[in-house]
Amino acid sequence: MTMQSSAKSSAVTDKPAVSRIGIVTAGGDCPGLNAVIRSVYKTATGQFGMEVVGIEDGFAGAIQNRMELLGSQHVRGILPRGGTVLGSSNRDDPFRVATMVNGAKVYEDRSDLVLSNFKERGIEALIAVGGDGTLSIANKLAEKGLKVVAIPKTIDNDLEATDVTFGFDSALRVATGAADSLHTTAESHHRVMVLEVMGRYAGWIALGAGLAGGADLILIPEIPFRLEKVYEHVRSRIASGKKFSIVVVGEGAKPLGGREVVQRRIEDSTDPVRLGGIGYWLSDQIEHHVQIETRVTVLGHLQRSGSPSPFDRILGIRFGVEAVELAAAGEFGRMVSLRGVDIVSVPLSDAVRQTRNVDPQGALVHAARAVGVRFGD
Ligand code: F6P
Repeated sequence: MTMQSSAKSSAVTDKPAVSRIGIVTAGGDCPGLNAVIRSVYKTATGQFGMEVVGIEDGFAGAIQNRMELLGSQHVRGILPRGGTVLGSSNRDDPFRVATMVNGAKVYEDRSDLVLSNFKERGIEALIAVGGDGTLSIANKLAEKGLKVVAIPKTIDNDLEATDVTFGFDSALRVATGAADSLHTTAESHHRVMVLEVMGRYAGWIALGAGLAGGADLILIPEIPFRLEKVYEHVRSRIASGKKFSIVVVGEGAKPLGGREVVQRRIEDSTDPVRLGGIGYWLSDQIEHHVQIETRVTVLGHLQRSGSPSPFDRILGIRFGVEAVELAAAGEFGRMVSLRGVDIVSVPLSDAVRQTRNVDPQGALVHAARAVGVRFGD
């Protein structure tokens, strides 16, 4: 993947390549989106004299032509607020719009309508803020000629082309806090506490929160587990006088040779599968086989809620600045990215090619094993 640092400009007098940009926040929301929106607005208007149009509710607003020219009143006070003032949707895809025809649901490509809505609104380029689904849509729009700059976000941290996505740190803070808190009640009642966290098919949240929150067992999608190994560790803790255990399980974790637990399907969505439920199944198994009282906490959308962490705010601000500078310099078809301590950009087409998973042989898993964490393998 070719990386580059973009041409930096802080000159208000430089004539930008485009004068009106649109911004869309799509996919599952996460803390830090408002920091990006504010950053894009302030940089675009203050540094380049551009106008910014906010698109409502993800790509739903692009399809339905619901957009508004942003003013300072839209971004005032939003930096510490979670969610997105523009609204978001993780089911609206311009290339696959559900429509009823003669009583039957069919899917239609409305991407041309989106392009003509943008044209009508005078939007010359789009800043698309999202995870892998949103970035794929943005890439397809770019292939149709739209000028696009993408900004990666997701609590799952599963995008290949950036070291970290914003939203992840805030989710980790919530999940770590939960793992910390569960220790006291687990200890009082001599129980196993199972904490199920989000992350889809990647174990970043489970691994991070488990490690930071002192979990005894961490179960992640990348390391299929054996139930016997889980029981064995809980039993050996009891035998050594530690009468409680904390298990952090990623929603996408699965037993060796088994499948993920699917909570529901949302057919209209780009990725219809919603994972969830492994925590309850696992808890039943442990309680039954180890004969120890077990309870489950499913953290769910708390991980996407609340105020962004300072790290996510700063990353969001830096991403927003970089995205606008790319647009002003006429560098489209790119995604901003964090590499080490630097903000760089990569081709959007490369960025959507694959997701990023925890390396079972990597440094984080190594460190966790070194301090006695078990992965059930
Ligand atoms: O991708 C972010 C995420 O929060 C995942 O971790 C989770 O599996 C999914 O979205 C939940 O989606 P929804 O908001 O549709 O329930």
